[in-house]
Amino acid sequence: DLKLDHNHFATMPSSIEDLSNPLHARNVFFRVNQTLWSVTNQTPSQKLHPDHVTVENGLLYQRVLRETDQFSVEITSFVPSRNVLAELHKVVFKNTSKASQLVKPVIGVPLFSRSADNLRDHRHVTSLLNRVIIENEGIVNRPTLSFDERGHQENHLAYGVFARSNRHSKITGFWPRLDQFVGQGADLFYPDAAVKDLSSPNQPGDVVEGYEAIGGLAFDEIELAPNAQITLLFGILLGEESSELSKIFASIDVSVYDEWLEETKAYWKKKFSTAFVTIGDQAMTGWYRAVGTQPLIRRVYGNSFLPHHDYGRGGRGWRDLWQDSLALILKSPLDVRENIVNYFKGVRIDGSNATIIGDKPGEFVADRNKIVRVWSDHGAWPFLTTHFYIKRTGDLSILLEEQGYFQDKFTHYTKRVDPLYVQNGSVDLNSAKGVYQGTLLEHILVQNLTAYYNVGDHGNIRIEDADWNDGFDMAAKSGETVAFTHLYIGNLKGLIQLLHALRNSGRTHIKVFEEFQLLMNKQVHGPLSPQKKREKLLHYFDTVAKGISGETIEILIEGLIKDLEVKIESMESHLNQNEWMTKGEDGCFNGYYDNDGQRVCTLEGPVRLTLTGQVFPLMAKNVPSSRLQQLAQTTKKYLYSDTYHSYHLNTRFGENKMNLGRFMGFAYGHKENGAFFSHMTIMYAYSLFENGLVKEASEILDEYIPVLLDIQRSKILPGIPEYIDPEGRGLYHFLTGSASWVVITLVEQLFGIHMEEGKIFFQPKLSAHHFAQGEATCPVVLVDKEILVRYLNPDKLEYADYEIVSMNKNSELMPTKHGRYQLSREDVVEGDEITLVLGRKQ
Ligand code: G1P
Repeated sequence: DLKLDHNHFATMPSSIEDLSNPLHARNVFFRVNQTLWSVTNQTPSQKLHPDHVTVENGLLYQRVLRETDQFSVEITSFVPSRNVLAELHKVVFKNTSKASQLVKPVIGVPLFSRSADNLRDHRHVTSLLNRVIIENEGIVNRPTLSFDERGHQENHLAYGVFARSNRHSKITGFWPRLDQFVGQGADLFYPDAAVKDLSSPNQPGDVVEGYEAIGGLAFDEIELAPNAQITLLFGILLGEESSELSKIFASIDVSVYDEWLEETKAYWKKKFSTAFVTIGDQAMTGWYRAVGTQPLIRRVYGNSFLPHHDYGRGGRGWRDLWQDSLALILKSPLDVRENIVNYFKGVRIDGSNATIIGDKPGEFVADRNKIVRVWSDHGAWPFLTTHFYIKRTGDLSILLEEQGYFQDKFTHYTKRVDPLYVQNGSVDLNSAKGVYQGTLLEHILVQNLTAYYNVGDHGNIRIEDADWNDGFDMAAKSGETVAFTHLYIGNLKGLIQLLHALRNSGRTHIKVFEEFQLLMNKQVHGPLSPQKKREKLLHYFDTVAKGISGETIEILIEGLIKDLEVKIESMESHLNQNEWMTKGEDGCFNGYYDNDGQRVCTLEGPVRLTLTGQVFPLMAKNVPSSRLQQLAQTTKKYLYSDTYHSYHLNTRFGENKMNLGRFMGFAYGHKENGAFFSHMTIMYAYSLFENGLVKEASEILDEYIPVLLDIQRSKILPGIPEYIDPEGRGLYHFLTGSASWVVITLVEQLFGIHMEEGKIFFQPKLSAHHFAQGEATCPVVLVDKEILVRYLNPDKLEYADYEIVSMNKNSELMPTKHGRYQLSREDVVEGDEITLVLGRKQ
């Protein structure tokens, strides 16, 4: 479908089932010697003799070639990158037979022109608002109102379908009404307007009121000699006025179309980090390049707006936003800096956050479905992304940027409502001294420390209304997430590194609001019990709920580090002692506690295990090296499937006892209940790399990517879907956090272009097969300069056998520094090529 947002759908909103029943499609018909053919492949003759189809999935354009034994139709489609609201198509019909053909082109794109809500709600009533205007080259619907019983709005958006043919001087059939275009008793697969020779019901200048609208445009039948072709340009255009749309379309001829297409390709190529990657053969290179576009697509769409992603009404989800930023940091760290600073404004002073971020800076919503919730993992991601940004840029100063906090009527991790809260037109946290702003470092500390104290009876962080796995949403009372307890502890470790760096930069103190002290332990007498932690948190919640004073204090960085060290130590030993499970040679982590306070995972009886439960201990580097192999082996033993060479998100948990989450109601092997879930699988590979298990990590990528690339099985265009189902089909394509992690894993792990404090250290983990012509290349942005890194592996050595033997900048040899191959921003200028040669390990 085509839309601006939830309330402005040009074509009918479509969900998964519409893909195989594409009734309201962008229909293009050719009646050839009285037999109807359609791009949807659904006419009676095509049912008997389906087209032969070739798809070219370009970077944000698409070309489809459909061939029959009589003719071919090639359709190239894209949305121009320049500032017009248009979707453009070039359709080339070619007579490939030996005889002349009588060909009649007809276009019929139903114009939904309203909010997705009206798909069922007031569907007919809203069609009465339609005002359809006939132009010389098209049909435009500009409804009178945007229907909303809470308060109708005047509509200002016009939706139009336009077309032109190089073989026709004009359009001769104008069909603004869907019912008339289709005809009584017929359907859109075989509509009267395309099948029969009917005279046009309308002419340019007419206005038709109050029916379902369609951009139905018919050209006269013409005779086409063998090898001759018809080129149709057609577009769906959105704008304020019908006349404006007509003007825009009039300015687009075939050469403008071609120019815009090239411009659009160039535009997107500049935007994503993997555009110039080469790795492995052509297919693998193409795959990585395609995946690189996905985080960008998700930045635009959030998690709504594609057929499989029919949830949500737009806006971007909190955790997804932060994770998608990871990939975007690789390409334009300085642009992302601004976003990071901005996103922190969604944090509440109690450590929870607004869950939806709008399109404009400072737009936040407590929840998209107005069900206010806390996801226990949310507080963990901002640090991860900020830390990654600092590593890639060396820009510690971001930590000291000041930002406000989000405030609404909710307090106590949203469990209570402040009866006195009056929305004063802003969502800024006010203190007794006016709007309060604190540093990003302070925001991060608040998020991670509130989480640290928010534990259940077993000492792990409470799962609240779910964690990363949205499906674990029925254990808010007593459930715990061991998986994310690990990640939070990993964050505290990372925070210590940053605090050391701040101290090394000459600071001794940091500024915080005075109530923050309640989250610290002044004297440290060993670990607190879960009960004591909760009391401490409650005291903090009670205090800040009454409003903060706005006074700030300076705390000693050294003291904060000590405090965090104690917290980390006690939690790490708790996790490694109490949540590590063994049986015989098996060993791995429990991931969760359910709503009855019972441990979820077990190695006894029917084994119950989650991949999430293993990934985060690894990512947080909480697993002692002596346990790494065992963890990887056990995970493989229980979660790996030979059929698709991939990992299940969890084993089958059996009966749904309504005490863990909705995921248990899903059929096993689908979505969050044990699917081959790309996101967790890729994070698993990433984390194995991080922990030095290169062979195991490489194996995951080497096996999973070919499964996705085998489109006969995965049945998706190249890229990464959220998951593959038990039959190998990819689902929830394009808009998935997996893509960001693929890109990060590619750059940071496979190419090993690892950065600390803005300096690159090269630690490639590429395998021999990644060097198709003896080389693999990856562009990298070093703070603000883009350079190209090229590895040469002339002897096709495997990872275990090679080491870097030389480094060149353009053709100049570069020495090692402190025995390592490294690069700083000062060493390069934009466009430099860095070549590293791999030779046999000495
Ligand atoms: C999706 C959601 C993400 C959630 C995950 C598991 O993942 O977007 O927020 O954590 O499901 O429930 P994605 O497809 O983005 O990887």
